[in-house]
Amino acid sequence: MRDQLTIRRPDDWHLHLRDGPVLRDVLPYTARVFGRAIVMPNLSPPVTTTAAARAYRDRILAALPDGSDFTPLMTCYLTDETQSGDLIAGYRDGVFAAAKLYPAHATTNSAGGVTDVHAIMPVLEAMCEAGMPLCVHGEVTDAAIDIFDREAVFIDRVLAPLLDRLPDLRVIFEHVTTRQAVQFVDDGPANLAATITPQHLHLNRNAMLVGGIRPHTYCLPVLKREEHRLALRRAATSGSLKYFLGTDSAPHLRATKESACGCAGIFNAPQALESYAAVFEEEQALDRLETFASVAGALFYRLPLNTGTVTLRREPQQVPGEIAVAEETVVPFHAGETLRWRITPA
Ligand code: NCD
Ligand code: ZN
Repeated sequence: MRDQLTIRRPDDWHLHLRDGPVLRDVLPYTARVFGRAIVMPNLSPPVTTTAAARAYRDRILAALPDGSDFTPLMTCYLTDETQSGDLIAGYRDGVFAAAKLYPAHATTNSAGGVTDVHAIMPVLEAMCEAGMPLCVHGEVTDAAIDIFDREAVFIDRVLAPLLDRLPDLRVIFEHVTTRQAVQFVDDGPANLAATITPQHLHLNRNAMLVGGIRPHTYCLPVLKREEHRLALRRAATSGSLKYFLGTDSAPHLRATKESACGCAGIFNAPQALESYAAVFEEEQALDRLETFASVAGALFYRLPLNTGTVTLRREPQQVPGEIAVAEETVVPFHAGETLRWRITPA
């Protein structure tokens, strides 16, 4: 049994950093471990222009602890009004690494998202032409579709037709949660990839609903049945370059989670890599953690691999029950549990 694992410095290909005092308090957890992160644009108001993304990037860089070596990779929140001129110029200028498709009302701060992909087809065509990656929140929002089926239905109704129409579009199917999504990505072209969160590798929907309703395990896409979790674990640990690390760390203050209408999102940034390491070890795939965490995503985004390393040591680590954020608290993923691995030096 190995006691230490050194891997190339990882990246987080899906992260919510928020803004203001929350940004200041959550950013250090990511910057400590990850070289880069794809920063989600679902602020209120969302980041919809190159100018807004530059300003947000500046606020992130200003919030970094001294001595950090961390690069935020910005994304553009697509709306029905997105202009391809500004978007593609922002990509060519190195401001945007990708654009994000939120179906309108699919998740937190997505009310201004895209009502119908056909409405933005010229923008998607321009992205395809420019080679600009598209990050997709893959759930339909049709009220008639059961929330547990929304990802699978999205594949049939939106994603498959989109890839048929634009076969060269570089698409990241984000935070996949179902065996149908894994099957679709496995069978798809090399320009289709997916991110997987730690929570969807650790938990099925029982964790959210058995013995009481547990708001800190509630995120979107919602946790699914065990068969889906097992499919995700096989995909993440397979060594395939189509799957990479994207935490979807999404902090919400405790009171907004523990509520009659609690927010969706799990704050996993503080122990994200250790959480993934536990899964890879359980799947006897620790030797593939580096591909998933530090190689596959950079290759897909056509960015250089990070140069530094991170070392994990087998040493029990108790996760705190809550973490101070913006003069309040956030309950992190694995709160109160003991994880087997710890990043060293701590
Ligand atoms: C995210 C958030 O809070 O911004 N929540 C979540 O449950 N994942 C939004 C998202 O990525 O869907
Ligand atoms: Zn997200």
